[in-house]
Amino acid sequence: MSTHETRLVDTFGRGHRDLRVSLTDRCSLRCTYCMPADFADWIPSAELLTTDELMTVLEVAIDEGIDEVRLTGGEPLLRPDAVDVVRRINALPRPPRVSITTNGLRLAAQAGALRDAGLERVNISLDTLDRERFKKMTHRDRLDDVLAGLAAAKAAGLAPVKVNAVLMPGVNDDEAVPMLRRALDEGWRLRFIEQMPLDAGGLWNRASMISAEQILENLSTAFDLTPVPVRGSAPAEEFFVNGGPETVGIIASVTRPFCGNCDRMRLTADGQLRNCLFARDETDLRAILRDPDFDHSQVLDGIRERLHLSVAAKLPGHGINDPAFIQPPRPMSAIGG
Ligand SMILES: C[S@@+](CC[C@H](N)C(=O)[O-])C[C@H]1O[C@@H](n2cnc3c(N)ncnc32)[C@H](O)[C@@H]1O
Repeated sequence: MSTHETRLVDTFGRGHRDLRVSLTDRCSLRCTYCMPADFADWIPSAELLTTDELMTVLEVAIDEGIDEVRLTGGEPLLRPDAVDVVRRINALPRPPRVSITTNGLRLAAQAGALRDAGLERVNISLDTLDRERFKKMTHRDRLDDVLAGLAAAKAAGLAPVKVNAVLMPGVNDDEAVPMLRRALDEGWRLRFIEQMPLDAGGLWNRASMISAEQILENLSTAFDLTPVPVRGSAPAEEFFVNGGPETVGIIASVTRPFCGNCDRMRLTADGQLRNCLFARDETDLRAILRDPDFDHSQVLDGIRERLHLSVAAKLPGHGINDPAFIQPPRPMSAIGG
């Protein structure tokens, strides 16, 4: 529960409390729905926010009402000082809850240190339990490392361990039921994410997307699912499995958008503020942070002003289902998923 009111309220009355922070656009996997295998269009290192710059932005954002920070990327744990970033966020005045979305590859080595630094929980992405498929879907033979990361997160008490899965037709869509069985066995909280038009290759196609309805239909062949009544601003629609208390979630950004309750903002690794995953406009915070004519208090004021401008410009919805929808110029990996 938040300890202070958010001042980040948009023109539709939505208050913003959740900031997704991309720590890097680099990634150790090449998930086919995210990045082509030969992707090389990285943000130049000099443009990435330093950790001091990031803390300055967070200080203002927290002051304005952000109380939840999710670290993401790219692969956030590729940032060499990721543990220190978590520690420093927790040392800020009024520290927010801090979680991380990761592919899990570095978690076996880092879960304990992340927890000790104040990380509350993890979301780990895992689309298949089959090694050959994993290789095909990510272009890397690293399934065992993800599973080791999942075990390490659980052992470190980073609870609940959430697992995010994207299903693709003819690739892994037959794994919904086995994935949920495994999740129930392991104590993971599984959520299926509909594939979104955010891939670097621009290959997304509505007709070849597994919808929430298809996933629910598929799961219902093996489990009794009943909706969990309270959802709030959470992206996932949750369902009790066989009466609960275990649940499974569906994040149906495409077929059942939940923009009306959105409380999220995003900060890219190069210091651009985005008011929506699908926004085409960004608000440049890096320019303020690096303006040689600004002293520290002018920097803080400038960030505060731009934070409010970005919130005020937020549209009512992401527009994916609008015939005029155009995919954002940045792919998911460079925005921060
Ligand atoms: C972009 S990744 C970044 C964090 C980290 N590397 C990871 O794997 O979790 C965050 C999440 O976005 C999901 N994702 C990436 N591209 C997507 C797309 N086009 N549609 C839906 N989800 C996507 C991934 O499956 C992952 O769960």
